[in-house]
Amino acid sequence: MRKKVIAGNWKMNMLPNEAIKFIQDLTPLVKDTKNEVIICAPYTDLFYTILNAQDTNIKIGAQNMHFEEKGAYTGEVSGKMLKSIGVEYVIIGHSERRQYFAETDETVNKKIKAAFENDLKPIVCVGETLEEREKGIAFDVITKQTRLALDGLSNEQVKNTIIAYEPIWAIGTGKTATADDANESIKKIREEISKIYGKDIAECVIILYGGSVKSSNAKELFNKSDIDGGLVGGASLKAEEFAKIVNF
Ligand code: PGA
Repeated sequence: MRKKVIAGNWKMNMLPNEAIKFIQDLTPLVKDTKNEVIICAPYTDLFYTILNAQDTNIKIGAQNMHFEEKGAYTGEVSGKMLKSIGVEYVIIGHSERRQYFAETDETVNKKIKAAFENDLKPIVCVGETLEEREKGIAFDVITKQTRLALDGLSNEQVKNTIIAYEPIWAIGTGKTATADDANESIKKIREEISKIYGKDIAECVIILYGGSVKSSNAKELFNKSDIDGGLVGGASLKAEEFAKIVNF
């Protein structure tokens, strides 16, 4: 049985004082869950959230990292730096980074490898645009992104990669893929992993759905056969609402 994982993606929101209050408010609301609870915070909040999440079941992730360990990369943060302050997860290849910050399948692959080298668990985002969906090539796009992201990883690393299927047209738009559509896409991703790494490994990989997840649709989505939880943007900014999603 795969574990359910609910990861919040705060994006470029939350000042440290807000982040601390959020973790304090969330802690009692999710303390009894069996699901994995992750908050992916902006760099400036990471240290504060880690300190405040100590001795709780809330894990902290970053939203990006550079693939090099150190050097002349002004403005960047490495996996080693994240690990050094106690970060456990890192989102890689979010569509906003692909769209606005020139993230490519190649840099995504390098970042995933660097994440594992630093003992960070990657949450790798894949997803099609509305145009690709309307052209009928959504499955081709997401299976290709998955293949390129995982290229060259060991079986063990593939098993420990979390994938987030996020149709771009559903992110921040209030439009959710239907639970059945999301499940179909996630099955395709799992099939693709199975073709390359075998069924046993594919069955272990946690694959989340993301795109306008909220407390009112979480249960239907997360109860589908292949949807192992969610990557939650907007609805992760309020502790009560996020807790309802965690406790779906
Ligand atoms: P959303 O964002 O829940 O606000 O649609 C999801 C994401 O971008 O990870």
